[in-house]
Amino acid sequence: MRMLRWIAYGLVAVVLVAWGLIWVQQGGLGRLDTASVGMSVPGGVSVGGPFSLVDSAGKPVTDASFRGRFMLVYFGYTFCPDVCPTELQMVANALALLGKDADRVAPIFITVDPERDTPEVIGGYTKLFDPRLIGLTGTPAQIAAAAKAYRVYYARATSKDSATYLMDHSSFIYLMGPDGKLSALFKQGTTAQELADGIRAKLAGAS
Ligand code: NI
Repeated sequence: MRMLRWIAYGLVAVVLVAWGLIWVQQGGLGRLDTASVGMSVPGGVSVGGPFSLVDSAGKPVTDASFRGRFMLVYFGYTFCPDVCPTELQMVANALALLGKDADRVAPIFITVDPERDTPEVIGGYTKLFDPRLIGLTGTPAQIAAAAKAYRVYYARATSKDSATYLMDHSSFIYLMGPDGKLSALFKQGTTAQELADGIRAKLAGAS
């Protein structure tokens, strides 16, 4: 009987190992390997996808407009009192650290507050951080679709004064490859140096 028990344990171990190998092969955490500080996304979860928005000049823009370059995507809103300006300044600093390599990256800020962030407002805002930063807005439906593709949570925080409401929103920075697929994910609090290093590692892998 003891023999049978060990055989049973052995079979369970084999199944677990095989399961693990299949999981890794199917994407798992391996494919999105994470440069130095990038985060992983659980296997099977797709992040990013097509979007159809409007730039600061009021012209239509889609994800395909940036194909062939990396996209560094961040969702937020211009009235954000703290997190968004901090993160956008960090992105601007990372672009400076990247030097010439920054030409291969389109840094994109997508509003989650299209009602106040008109093309003009978002264009004026992104310029404050870096003239290369591309501000995108759209109809509420267009923004909702883009946020859904990137799995961004956002919601209007309750406020009595409707003109000064705040938005809750998730705060990740997405590095999308030249093929439009997720290359790396950076969490809030990443330093400019860490972001620049993470981007550079992905640029090196793609050239
Ligand atoms: Ni914010």
